[in-house]
Amino acid sequence: MAKITVIINQKGGVGKTTTTCSLAAALSLKGKKVLLVDLDPQTNASESLGVRNYDNNIYQALKGESAISPIKVINNLYIVPSNIDLNALEHEMNNEPGREYLLKELLEPVKNQYDFILIDCSPSIGLIALNALSACDTFIIPVLPHHLSIQGLSGLADVAKKIKSRINPKLKLEGVLITQFSHRKVLHRDVQTALKKHFNGRLYDTTIRENISLAEMCSAGIDIFRYAPNSNGAEDYLKLCEEFLSKQ
Ligand SMILES: Nc1ncnc2c1ncn2[C@@H]1O[C@H](COP(=O)(O)OP(=O)(O)OP(=O)(O)O)[C@@H](O)[C@H]1O
Ligand SMILES: [Mg+2]
Repeated sequence: MAKITVIINQKGGVGKTTTTCSLAAALSLKGKKVLLVDLDPQTNASESLGVRNYDNNIYQALKGESAISPIKVINNLYIVPSNIDLNALEHEMNNEPGREYLLKELLEPVKNQYDFILIDCSPSIGLIALNALSACDTFIIPVLPHHLSIQGLSGLADVAKKIKSRINPKLKLEGVLITQFSHRKVLHRDVQTALKKHFNGRLYDTTIRENISLAEMCSAGIDIFRYAPNSNGAEDYLKLCEEFLSKQ
């Protein structure tokens, strides 16, 4: 039975998609069977993995027009791509009873075919994020090492608390991940210390360094381990994968 983990932060550009794609690829390299669900109408994760304009997308599935039908990316790694139409879902599902459970219901029949299901979210807390938090077991929060970027975390924590008490009692914080980190910068180290204190063992020891290969790989349409296997980005995400697995 797959463990379902959502990568979430309502702040934009913090590394959600990069983390989802790279952790999914790293887990698949470790022999785990992984399904990535792209739940962002920007379709960045789908495009990063070279999957564009598929009919079998998450929007159609959430609307009940088709079953979930994952596409194989490489050995062990599958994706349900997104579509720009997903932007309309919130409005279209306005009067649908149980609309927070659409994703949970969709994943139920495919759950036992994977070891891990990773979900990439858009930078907002609307119906789609509620679906992700209702369907998952745990969530990972990527953050940039700036004080402003950690200020928004209490809002996310409040939402997660409400989902846990009202909809999904098993919901747990998997970990907080600092991205685009530079050990040489005092500010970055200060933020790391503050997060370590606040999250008490839930902050990953692994940090993701700023790395140009990670920025480039999305346009290449392949994951970091195939795009630049010797890069710092590949090294850091492999380390994250090992830390993630050691905590299962
Ligand atoms: N460690 C890194 N080093 C350098 N660039 C990075 C790194 N991680 C991500 N990026 C780049 O930063 C930008 C934002 O990253 P990403 O798309 O993963 O963030 P996101 O949180 O998914 O954004 P959004 O909220 O828009 O979905 C992208 O251009 C990405 O290529
Ligand atoms: Mg993204």
